[in-house]
Amino acid sequence: MKKALIIGASSGIGRALALTLAKNEYELGLMARRVEMLETLQEEISTPTHIGHVDISQIPDANEKVQKMIQEMGGLDLMIINSGVGF
Ligand SMILES: NC(=O)c1ccc[n+]([C@@H]2O[C@H](COP(=O)([O-])OP(=O)(O)OC[C@H]3O[C@@H](n4cnc5c(N)ncnc54)[C@H](OP(=O)(O)O)[C@@H]3O)[C@@H](O)[C@H]2O)c1
Repeated sequence: MKKALIIGASSGIGRALALTLAKNEYELGLMARRVEMLETLQEEISTPTHIGHVDISQIPDANEKVQKMIQEMGGLDLMIINSGVGF
């Protein structure tokens, strides 16, 4: 099973990508600030998922949390850094 990590998976494009990758049999790491939205998303996905809080504006802490997630998943095939805001 391939593995993908999506940073910014709680809404919008990141959430939609998570559902598409799950349909394509990916094991997923789902990260964002709104963990409760990641938990709701997790319930919609049948492949293995890992969820974690991250705020990418807190750089040292975010680096540590992302590294920890990659270790928990045993490596990655794909990483999508989607977090952002539009004005
Ligand atoms: N939609 C468009 O037409 C469009 C066009 C061009 C580019 N983009 C870019 O594509 C990306 C996604 O857009 P979207 O429309 O899907 O936006 P969205 O629905 O607002 O999703 C943004 C995602 O980024 C996460 N995020 C924001 N700030 C974060 C932070 N400090 N730390 C961690 N996660 C953070 C949000 O999660 P939390 O709030 O839970 O942390 C959410 O999961 C953005 O970078 C946007 O600028 C979008």
